[in-house]
Amino acid sequence: MSPAAADMLDPAHFANVLKPPLEAESLPAWCYTDPYFHRLEIERLFMKVWNFVGRDDLMPNPGDYLATDVASIPIILIRDKDGTARAFANSCRHRGTQLLTGEGNCKAIVCPYHGWAFDFDGALVSVPGMDETVGFDKDDHALIPLRLESWAGFLFVNFDAKAESLADYLGTLPNHIGSYNFPDMVTTRRKVWDVACNWKVYLENQRESYHVPIVHRESLGDQVATPLDQEGAWSGSLIPVEHTAGVMKDETTPFPPIKSLAGEALEGSHFLVLYPSTYFVATTDCFWWMEIKPRGPARIELVVGSGFPRETVARDDFESVVQRYYRRWDTSHKEDNDICELQQAGLTSPLALPGRLARRERGVNAVDRWIVERMLAA
Ligand code: FES
Repeated sequence: MSPAAADMLDPAHFANVLKPPLEAESLPAWCYTDPYFHRLEIERLFMKVWNFVGRDDLMPNPGDYLATDVASIPIILIRDKDGTARAFANSCRHRGTQLLTGEGNCKAIVCPYHGWAFDFDGALVSVPGMDETVGFDKDDHALIPLRLESWAGFLFVNFDAKAESLADYLGTLPNHIGSYNFPDMVTTRRKVWDVACNWKVYLENQRESYHVPIVHRESLGDQVATPLDQEGAWSGSLIPVEHTAGVMKDETTPFPPIKSLAGEALEGSHFLVLYPSTYFVATTDCFWWMEIKPRGPARIELVVGSGFPRETVARDDFESVVQRYYRRWDTSHKEDNDICELQQAGLTSPLALPGRLARRERGVNAVDRWIVERMLAA
């Protein structure tokens, strides 16, 4: 059962989570189900740190936009007339209506309710029928801008004006995965799943290999991961593979390796979480990512995106061969989605208790530790 709201961040609830991994327990079950705890997570985690929101190449031209969200807070990403990507709150400055949905191209951001129109820099430029409103000044009603920074084609948004820079937040991550040459990668697909589980259930699943020989027995087979040093806003593992991790276990290597691979990237594939809720895999010939977007305490929207080198995408056989990769992702994610929904169903029981962790679940402890330390420090 959940503790009282005022008691929820009592450090005593989390003492066993903060022990060394092989002495630790998982989070209390109510952390995966309680609406108030979920609200605290949004305030103390998602609204304080850099959140990955999409790849830069999703909006190549002025006026291209993507209406997305961070933990269900709606935002607009849009390319302005000078080619700069910008981010705004997706709430009209009149009476709050969501301005844009989905993705596309527009000449201006026009509210579907009463027709207020905003320029790509957020300025309110057209306001029908407000001539008699006393003291109304368009300049006071621009869209609310959000901090947007990018690394290697990955776009990040931060709601906190006082937060560190994205470069400081990422820390040493670029040193580990820079040689995959992400700026040259083309986004080829984004598939959206609706999964009935808490966002941490999914993130923890991605960070442990204990379940792999059971849940992914037929599709991936076993994958033994070597933990990388956990540093700041990310943690992850290197999985030694002879060829790409992007296809099923019995497939051959369909595409050539990325030419720029060097150092660690020649030893294996990188499986990384970037907190709070993005998961990346970078392998010999491509990369894919997961946006684990909370939809309340017991549901997520899972976006699975993929990118390949420009040269690979230009191949005549790309569209037919890439289906092998899509089949791998669709199969393994369905397997993870199903097991995560079962875990959520069990965690919803008032009888559910925290559990101990195996050696191959150190990543679960890394995720839980980051969350607890941030929640208690805020
Ligand atoms: Fe947007 Fe009225 S709510 S114009």
